[in-house]
Amino acid sequence: MVTLKSGVGTTIRTEDRDYLYFAGNNYLGLANHPALVQESISALQRYGVNVSASRQTTGTSELHLELEQLLAIFKSKQDAIVFASGYMGNKILLDTLADRYSALFIDSMAHASIRDGIPKGIRHVFFYDHCNPDHLGSLLKQHPTKRPLVITDGIFALTGEIAPLDQLYAIAQKHHAPVIVDDAHATGVLGRTGKGTPEHFGLEQAPNLYQSETLSKAFGSYGGFIAAEAAIIQKIRNGSAFFGASTALPPAIVAAGCASVRLIQEHPELRQQLADNATQLRAGIRSLELETTDSVAPIIPLFFEHRENAENLSNFLETHHIIAPAVNYPVKMNRYIVRITVSASHTPEQIEKLITTLKNWKNNHECH
Ligand SMILES: Cc1ncc(COP(=O)(O)O)c(C=O)c1O
Repeated sequence: MVTLKSGVGTTIRTEDRDYLYFAGNNYLGLANHPALVQESISALQRYGVNVSASRQTTGTSELHLELEQLLAIFKSKQDAIVFASGYMGNKILLDTLADRYSALFIDSMAHASIRDGIPKGIRHVFFYDHCNPDHLGSLLKQHPTKRPLVITDGIFALTGEIAPLDQLYAIAQKHHAPVIVDDAHATGVLGRTGKGTPEHFGLEQAPNLYQSETLSKAFGSYGGFIAAEAAIIQKIRNGSAFFGASTALPPAIVAAGCASVRLIQEHPELRQQLADNATQLRAGIRSLELETTDSVAPIIPLFFEHRENAENLSNFLETHHIIAPAVNYPVKMNRYIVRITVSASHTPEQIEKLITTLKNWKNNHECH
């Protein structure tokens, strides 16, 4: 684990030196953007650090309302709601839609926040094979009496794979099942305007398709949000303890969120730059014949059969002043990963330096 002594950009400072940084989730490079920092400082000066109250009582500032309005417009939805963290979003949606399903059908590599979000009363939980619409279809057929709901990650955090949402959604529709997509890694990244996985597949206005999203990754700020039809958002406002009984996001964070929603809408070229950088890096990694996933996402994992190889590579990169962690998050994986992420702010030279260093490592190691 590294201990940061700076903010995160394309470089970071840890201990006493700078490293090239190919980690984390700051996909559009906004976490240190001057507009976010300035808006945060102004909000800090005006509101102090914390409003120390829940949204439902006295914690709602005009900035919270502005952010929700901006998000509803950005997502072309009737309304939006922000809350303390993206992790809560799946739980909030699963609770809010609880009267619409009696069984859950979940991707077998779903993020921990999806598993943690399963309501206590739901006894029928089925895991379909990872990104496998056919298996989802056959599970749904095997349980015709259940009222199903399907839930998946949009972009998978460790592998960068994009769920085949077009196919999953088509199957779910046949079974009258609502679909939830955890788009923590896809919002701001995928789709023509950055609306995430549904937009990537032309499904941004599809009925019965809900997204759980975060401001903590591509947006460079912090906090979870849901944008949907007004009745759903109203139900969350009225009924979710995660919203009503939890301290409001600090105004400085909310102000950064507002700045970032504006930037993402005004600068679509950021997303193009990110896509170009991901393409350059993925092509370099493929040319080295290192195993990775076939995706357009900015998460580019390197897979290894043995933990020692993943750790050896991550350590080698570190000794060459590059950070890319070997990860073993609590997601069911039978292989080891060095999780490389790229941002819109990386320069072609920085990406080339990473590729050259990977090549040097590969030339000196037998890796499996
Ligand atoms: C797929 C996924 N969902 C939800 C979350 C939680 O989002 P947040 O960090 O904004 O709470 C994360 C990550 O950290 C994630 O990877």
